[in-house]
Amino acid sequence: MDRSKMFKLATLVTLVLFLMTSINSSVGASAQEEVEEYRGPGYCLECHVSPMEDWLGSSHDLAFRDPLFQEEWKAQGSPASCLSCHTTGFDEDENSYKYEGVTCEQCHGPGNTMNGNVSEELCGTCHSYTYPTYEEWKNSGPSHANATCTLCHDKHTTQLSAQTPTGTCSICHESHADEVADTKHAAGGVECSDCHMYVAPPDFEQGTPASTGHTFTMTPEQLDCETCHDRPLSKHDKLGEKAFACLSCHGEIHSLEVKLINGTVYPRDESVALCAQCHNERYTSWKQGTHGKPEDHDAHCVECHDPHDPVVSGISTLPAVLPRETAGAPSISFTTAFIIVIELLGFSVIIMRWRADV
Ligand code: HEC
Ligand code: HEC
Ligand code: HEC
Ligand code: HEC
Ligand code: HEC
Ligand code: HEC
Ligand code: HEC
Ligand code: HEC
Ligand code: HEC
Ligand code: HEC
Ligand code: HEC
Repeated sequence: MDRSKMFKLATLVTLVLFLMTSINSSVGASAQEEVEEYRGPGYCLECHVSPMEDWLGSSHDLAFRDPLFQEEWKAQGSPASCLSCHTTGFDEDENSYKYEGVTCEQCHGPGNTMNGNVSEELCGTCHSYTYPTYEEWKNSGPSHANATCTLCHDKHTTQLSAQTPTGTCSICHESHADEVADTKHAAGGVECSDCHMYVAPPDFEQGTPASTGHTFTMTPEQLDCETCHDRPLSKHDKLGEKAFACLSCHGEIHSLEVKLINGTVYPRDESVALCAQCHNERYTSWKQGTHGKPEDHDAHCVECHDPHDPVVSGISTLPAVLPRETAGAPSISFTTAFIIVIELLGFSVIIMRWRADV
């Protein structure tokens, strides 16, 4: 064992000794035998260095010492009911606990139990009620049953097992991840979880639990593109609430292309068909050439109309435009030519008759 490792271990031992001295029975009396049953993290360290390194400093280790917890707990008059999840070996009858935080033995059982079979249900004993992560996950449908807590979260550090939230989804949703990868959303650091995991704090007064995003889907009310995009809609706000207005055009949301109601996808800069499906009359006149630029008949709708604020102000009517098909052609139509030919014929007949008469 090299020196740095020795040093690290020494620090660990000191820390653990500190933890052991924080055995606390101030909330209530605790029987001596029970203390012996639980041996504290220092005991496990003897043989399990690497899980210990991961766990130390994790939010489970800190679950009691966490300043936010301490502040809130004290503000509420230090009720014992909080401790069942923020400590280890909480005894409801005695109102006592063995160790601060969520230690090894809270998950693996006290002393030499060493139960390696830690289930989602166990995580659920604490990640429920006010922070209903477990319930949400349970309701996320059969598709996410294989996405266990410890697939996405490291079992001992509690941090994400992948580098980013998107990384955890990519374990299974590779094709979606690929679609997003080349877009400005990926470049701008937008994660799958930014749209798919709706997080909201609990409302203690109303007794409303938090939303932790672990159903992995969102309702129309929950997804609001405008949390990131300052793009208030005018007129097109009639298309729906929040994201659903945006999605009626940006329907191919992962690749950021536009999508028609019938499912056809167009690149964002070729959006004429998109407008056409709802503004058929204008589209027809645009096609006929009576709505648009006289000098540029191919000017797309969005060159004049901002799709987010489409009313073109200041102009009450467009200048007259020549029919599209004849644009740029010599200004002589088939009918005119026909009439001219007939007239010329008629004229020559008259002349011939006149000559004959002479
Ligand atoms: C004296 C050494 C020693 C101590 C102390 C010790 N363990 Fe172990 N533990 C072992 C050995 C040996 C194994 C078996 C390793 C194997 O099967 O690869 C083991 C296995 C485990 C396993 C895996 C069991 C499984 O089913 O795969 C867990 C979990 C575990 N220990 C937790 C703990 C916890 C928590 C503590 C502290 C309360 C602890 N151990 C204390 C030696 C120890
Ligand atoms: C059923 C188990 C449980 C009980 C009981 C419980 N908590 Fe928690 N608490 C949790 C969990 C799980 C989290 C982490 C939630 C998350 O991040 O999703 C948490 C987080 C917190 C946080 C936020 C800490 C942070 O760093 O963000 C505070 C503060 C807190 N709890 C205070 C309390 C208080 C005060 C009580 C008692 C009135 C209490 N808790 C009772 C399980 C519980
Ligand atoms: C929040 C719950 C939790 C806590 C706290 C916890 N563990 Fe674990 N531990 C797990 C889970 C989950 C597994 C993986 C079990 C499986 O694979 O089925 C695990 C696995 C293990 C294993 C088996 C070998 C391995 O790495 O997979 C050992 C040994 C272990 N833990 C020791 C510890 C020790 C020592 C501590 C305290 C420093 C600790 N655990 C704290 C949940 C926890
Ligand atoms: C004894 C209760 C308890 C158990 C069992 C438990 N947790 Fe926790 N967990 C907590 C509390 C309390 C917190 C919040 C601590 C804080 O921030 O103050 C927490 C925090 C977390 C966090 C947040 C990490 C962060 O950085 O904010 C994750 C992720 C987590 N737990 C996952 C798990 C998983 C996965 C399991 C099951 C293997 C599990 N927990 C089992 C009580 C528990
Ligand atoms: C498919 C992957 C996935 C699964 C499965 C999963 N989580 Fe998470 N979890 C995440 C992501 C992603 C975040 C958000 C992290 C972030 O934004 O930094 C998160 C956040 C959390 C947080 C809050 C951490 C924080 O930083 O505030 C807790 C607590 C948590 N998860 C617990 C659990 C528990 C308990 C389970 C099992 C019932 C579970 N998770 C299942 C991916 C997952
Ligand atoms: C263990 C694999 C796995 C992981 C990890 C996973 N998913 Fe899924 N998910 C599935 C499967 C399987 C389906 C159903 C088939 C499909 O639609 O692709 C699904 C479906 C979905 C759906 C469609 C709606 C539904 O509930 O059927 C959404 C949205 C979704 N996942 C989002 C996510 C997000 C966001 C993450 C990351 C936080 C994630 N998933 C992580 C396996 C996984
Ligand atoms: C900008 C927001 C946003 C981001 C980022 C995003 N999604 Fe989605 N996702 C949506 C919306 C909105 C829907 C519903 C689309 C619909 O119903 O037409 C959806 C649908 C899905 C579905 C189910 C329908 C389908 O297309 O199969 C899955 C699975 C999914 N997303 C996975 C992911 C994954 C994985 C990531 C990250 C790589 C991700 N999403 C990133 C907004 C987003
Ligand atoms: C978490 C923040 C976030 C959310 C939520 C979000 N976006 Fe974005 N979006 C961005 C960022 C950052 C960019 C890249 C900005 C840039 O490069 O100008 C972007 C870019 C885009 C672009 C491409 C811009 C371009 O110039 O090519 C479109 C289109 C877009 N978002 C639509 C949406 C829609 C529709 C929704 C809701 C379903 C949404 N976004 C939700 C942050 C977000
Ligand atoms: C009526 C259809 C429509 C609606 C509704 C719509 N968009 Fe767009 N959006 C477009 C089209 C088409 C483009 C491409 C315009 C172009 O190429 O000039 C675009 C471009 C964008 C861009 C990138 C270009 C820019 O202007 O910065 C962002 C970002 C964007 N939309 C976000 C949103 C958000 C957020 C919403 C909802 C609040 C929304 N859009 C609603 C059709 C729409
Ligand atoms: C999904 C249907 C839909 C799509 C797609 C759509 N619109 Fe609209 N548009 C509407 C609705 C609904 C209104 C509001 C009409 C009202 O206020 O009476 C509207 C209003 C307008 C207006 C204001 C005119 C008026 O009658 O108030 C213009 C201009 C416009 N849209 C142009 C466009 C352009 C350009 C596109 C393509 C980028 C487009 N629209 C795509 C449905 C749509
Ligand atoms: C050369 C610029 C230009 C192009 C290209 C263009 N428009 Fe217009 N559009 C206007 C102007 C200016 C008005 C307002 C004057 C009017 O009502 O004639 C208008 C009016 C409208 C209106 C009615 C607005 C109202 O207030 O009643 C709709 C709907 C519309 N356009 C849709 C479209 C669609 C769909 C396309 C593409 C197929 C398109 N426009 C192409 C300039 C353009």
